[in-house]
Amino acid sequence: MSDLQSAGAPVLTIDGPSGAGKGTVSSRVARALGWNVLDSGAVYRTVSLAALQRGLSADDEGALVELCRDLRLAFRAGEEGIEVLLDDRPVGDALRAEQVGVMSSQVAAVPAVREALLDLQRSFQAAPGLVADGRDMGTVVFPDAEVKVFLDASVAERARRRYQQLKDKGQLKDKGEDVTFDRLFRDLEDRDRRDRERSVSPTIPADDAVVVDSTRMTLDEVVDRVEELVRQRLQPTG
Ligand code: C5P
Repeated sequence: MSDLQSAGAPVLTIDGPSGAGKGTVSSRVARALGWNVLDSGAVYRTVSLAALQRGLSADDEGALVELCRDLRLAFRAGEEGIEVLLDDRPVGDALRAEQVGVMSSQVAAVPAVREALLDLQRSFQAAPGLVADGRDMGTVVFPDAEVKVFLDASVAERARRRYQQLKDKGQLKDKGEDVTFDRLFRDLEDRDRRDRERSVSPTIPADDAVVVDSTRMTLDEVVDRVEELVRQRLQPTG
């Protein structure tokens, strides 16, 4: 364990593919423990949203790195999931748009962007602890984390959950087009492939991560399992 991290607050990393439920689980566990929370996907999504607004493409490396340096982000563990604050204001649903999701997996494949965001992400490690949600939290950003979870689920189940979520919010239209289950399934497959096969920080479990497959688990069961892992690692005799 590096001196830098061993001296810091404990970290629980929750990595895994899109739609596995990391955000909800992270938020619930952070609230239960009273810990801070980092939604690293939102970090990449915010850079992407700003890039789209400025008409930048995923290969405008210099301009993207500039954007990363200017980010003023904060997170709050809310009832429904992690709330993102940009310049002290809640960002709302803008970050969840499919177009932003697609752009973020392209932007996240740029090594200079990942490098530029490392210190920002590590700055969230603070007492009494941090729940860090993402793809490379346990492998790259917090390699010495006390507890590492890799939360997975089948593509079909993740597409089904996302479809239901959009339906519940009345958001099954994107630029006038119907969002279908098939399109969500294909988008997830493409994004998984890009995230898994990229050369920098691919989405893979850390060697010391516990893999939790939530395909046939309820949200409560996943939260209980993760809290149990934290208890085992942080209070081994308790
Ligand atoms: O988790 P979420 O879907 O919000 O993440 C958006 C995109 O950001 C992902 O598709 C992934 O490419 C990227 N990402 C990443 N590393 C992280 C978190 C997210 O590359 N730690």
